[in-house]
Amino acid sequence: MKQVETVIDIQDMTKIFRMGDQSLRALDGVDLKIMKGEFVAIVGPSGSGKSTLMHMIGLLDRPDEGQYFLGVDDVLKMDDATQAEIRSKKIGFIFQQFNLLARTSARENVGLPMLYSGSDLDQERVKMLLWTTAAGGHSEIFGQ
Ligand SMILES: Nc1ncnc2c1ncn2[C@@H]1O[C@H](COP(=O)(O)OP(=O)(O)O)[C@@H](O)[C@H]1O
Ligand SMILES: [Mg+2]
Repeated sequence: MKQVETVIDIQDMTKIFRMGDQSLRALDGVDLKIMKGEFVAIVGPSGSGKSTLMHMIGLLDRPDEGQYFLGVDDVLKMDDATQAEIRSKKIGFIFQQFNLLARTSARENVGLPMLYSGSDLDQERVKMLLWTTAAGGHSEIFGQ
């Protein structure tokens, strides 16, 4: 039987933002499991915690409680530097504001993370990724 791989496994994740004597529970015991090859959308009204959850999934912020396995890695147990390495190798982002570098070509914007992650600039892969994005399929970028 074909083995189904779990890519993201989050359990009981809680995030509380504290501002002075106020606190806001942005995530309240989130469980989320995403399997290899799945294409998942997180939907909900403004302020319901979508961006907060995406920041946790992308290792851009840490929750107050919960477990998060990215593949076999227990990523919340890792220090910031190790998380940054995992982030550069296993996670791709397309931000709402795109966060592209102005005065830098589309090719260079796409190729830059390859340099940051210590691999060679692969122009063929840059071309393929740009083509995939233009075709509306982000799956080649996310999860690489
Ligand atoms: N850095 C922050 N500091 C304080 N409150 C925050 C912060 N980020 C988000 N929030 C609050 O957490 C809640 C969830 O926000 P967010 O994750 O941005 O929701 P969504 O992306 O679904 O609109 C909102 O009430 C928001 O005001
Ligand atoms: Mg948002």
